[in-house]
Amino acid sequence: MIDLQLLDKKHDESRQGEALVLDAPTGNASRKLYIESYGCQMNFADSEIVASILLDQGFETTGDYKEADAIFINTCSIRENAEQRVRNRLSQFGVEKRRNPKLIVGVLGCMAERLKSKFLEEEKLVDVVVGPDAYRDLPQLISQVEDGQKAINVLLSREETYADIAPVRLNGNGITAFISIMRGCDNMCSFCVVPFTRGRERSRDPFSILAEAQDLHDKGYKEVTLLGQNVDSYKWKGGDESETAAVAVNFAQLLEKVALISPELRVRFSTSHPKDITDEVLYTIAKYDNICNNIHLPVQSGSTRMLELMNRTYTKEWYMNRVDAIRRIIPGCAISTDIIAGFCTETEEDHQETLAMMDYVDYDFAFTFSYSERPGTLAARKLPDDIPEEVKKRRLTEILLRQQESSYKRLQENVGKTIRILVEGKSKKSDADYCGRNDQNAMIVFPATAEIQPGQYVNVYIERCTSATLLGKIAD
Ligand code: SAH
Ligand code: SF4
Ligand code: F3S
Repeated sequence: MIDLQLLDKKHDESRQGEALVLDAPTGNASRKLYIESYGCQMNFADSEIVASILLDQGFETTGDYKEADAIFINTCSIRENAEQRVRNRLSQFGVEKRRNPKLIVGVLGCMAERLKSKFLEEEKLVDVVVGPDAYRDLPQLISQVEDGQKAINVLLSREETYADIAPVRLNGNGITAFISIMRGCDNMCSFCVVPFTRGRERSRDPFSILAEAQDLHDKGYKEVTLLGQNVDSYKWKGGDESETAAVAVNFAQLLEKVALISPELRVRFSTSHPKDITDEVLYTIAKYDNICNNIHLPVQSGSTRMLELMNRTYTKEWYMNRVDAIRRIIPGCAISTDIIAGFCTETEEDHQETLAMMDYVDYDFAFTFSYSERPGTLAARKLPDDIPEEVKKRRLTEILLRQQESSYKRLQENVGKTIRILVEGKSKKSDADYCGRNDQNAMIVFPATAEIQPGQYVNVYIERCTSATLLGKIAD
């Protein structure tokens, strides 16, 4: 029996609403900061930038909002339910605010950018609203609030990448970390709010990216994930004071430079756009053992008609060609995806084409969503949100079930084999077990032994699997 509700939750709400705290308390700080993050990995990475800025202002982090002097919520606008979750959370924080009027409540991120000053009108308890490109202004905004005013900065920037701010690692395991390599998005997928909330695409300078990766490696980290809405369009042109000539760096070159830091440092990246992923990137992945064989390649739909309405700028055939190239150049590479069910005017035939695409690719993993109209997007302005809720739901369920079969099939291929994994820590379910991931990003759980420590690479013999996890024992 498949628990669909659980499955849906897992796919749609992964890493939503996590309280972020610094592992080690910070000395003699006078004020306590509570940050909670919603949405994508980039938002979580941004919260680490925000924490870095506020720690410099004499804050320390806490995991309990009831003892905080300032509560910040880093928000997501991607779907209606993501925004609803934030609003519910804000009403809980309101209870604290009434108890302690000095408490500062701040809204960061994509909802702040989308709603701007409307937020201050709609949510009376909110003191400060800050968009994703304005975090450097936080100290000034906070002192404005301390002077008894409301404060807002939602200016978007064409340059800001926070390149010089060293993120403080929150909730870290000391083994895996995210590095933002770019911000914003210049694509205009008709369903998507991100270009409006994150602004224009810009790439961070490669020197600061490499310095951050090197620093993580020096501190004992074993895996970095390079983040951007569309990593394949990473492009940096410019010089450094120490450089005599201008340099241009594309994503394949950046990937290679990070991989060369150490063969012991694994490199992952997300997200790839089917229109931009080049064979050069694929050959770079194939060339280095420490670049993980796992590509997140959102398809959204298997129907060319839908893809056109979505303004994804590729056809079904183009996407299949990119999948064929991955299979040819990197045999055994895992491919994961994002799929939207019930986009504007989607017919049963369009939906069947999505299922057929799933059969063609046999995805290792998929995030699946029911289409949610976002105010201001091209689709909201030009296309009817005309698929009834129950039809969206039924199609989503069919997609989920198809994915469940594929995921299981993919994992099953590992049973009876010995695979190399990076141990991340104790498993969620039991202290007696360790968990870790293989190159393809599958989760493996195995009994802990005294000789093994988190951060080590070990060989595990796979005995069996569920649809989400491989189970095994240490092989010697
Ligand atoms: N930059 C990434 C995706 C970022 S958003 C890319 O281009 O692939 C993550 C996923 O959320 C998208 O891939 C899409 O599947 C989903 N999504 C975005 N807007 C949505 C909407 N309005 N309704 C439902 N799902 C949406
Ligand atoms: Fe949104 Fe498309 Fe940009 Fe991804 S590529 S963030 S889906 S506009
Ligand atoms: Fe959400 Fe903004 Fe990320 S809308 S998915 S937090 S870029």
